[in-house]
Amino acid sequence: MEDHANAHTVIENADALARCRLSDGRYAHTLRVADTAADLARIHNLDEGRARLSALVHDSARETEPEEFLRLAREWDLPIGKPERQSPKLLHGPVAAELARRELGVEDREVLEAVRAHTTGKPGMGPLALALYVADKIEPARDYPSVERLRELAKEDLHMAAAESLRRAIAHNEGRGKDIHPSSREALEWLEADRTPQGGVEQ
Ligand SMILES: [Fe+2]
Ligand SMILES: [Fe+2]
Repeated sequence: MEDHANAHTVIENADALARCRLSDGRYAHTLRVADTAADLARIHNLDEGRARLSALVHDSARETEPEEFLRLAREWDLPIGKPERQSPKLLHGPVAAELARRELGVEDREVLEAVRAHTTGKPGMGPLALALYVADKIEPARDYPSVERLRELAKEDLHMAAAESLRRAIAHNEGRGKDIHPSSREALEWLEADRTPQGGVEQ
C-alpha cells in the first residue's frame, strides 16, 4: 500500500517538475509521451507507473541553455563526449535523469536508464527504455511518413519498433549531413543482433 502511495506521489512530483520547467508545448508533448508509454507498458506487460514516470521526466531538462548543460554535466560528473560538446542539448536525457534522482528521489535504475537513453538510444537498453524511446517517437502529435507503421510495430514488438525508429533517425540525420551519435549506431547494431526476449535476463 505504502509503495503504491509513494509511486503516486512521485508521479505527481514528476508531473510538477515537467510543468514548471517546460513551455506549454513541450509539457503537452510530455503528457502525450506519458500516455503513449503507459499504453505500450500495458500491451507489453511492463509497469505502467514506471513507464509514466520515465516519460514525465524525459524532457524536463530540454529547455536548459547550452552553457548550463555543460556546467551541470561537469558538476554532476556526467560523461561529455565530442558530440555533447558540439551539441550540449544531447545532455538533456542524462541531466533529466539526475534531476529525477536529486529532486524527486528516484533511484529506480531502469527508470533512470530510460530517461538517460531516450535521445540517442543505447546498446543493451531494457524494455522500459525501449518503451520510452519508442513512445517519444510515436506520440499522437508526431507526423512523418512512416509513423503509422511504427505505431503498429510498437504494439507488436518494442525491439523491432526501436530498431526501425533508430534506422529512420540515422537516415534522416545522414540525409541532412549531420553527425550520428555513436550510441545510436551501437544501439541499432545491438538491436539488430540481439533478440533477448522481453523479460529475459539481461546480461
Ligand atoms: Fe528528449
Ligand atoms: Fe520528448
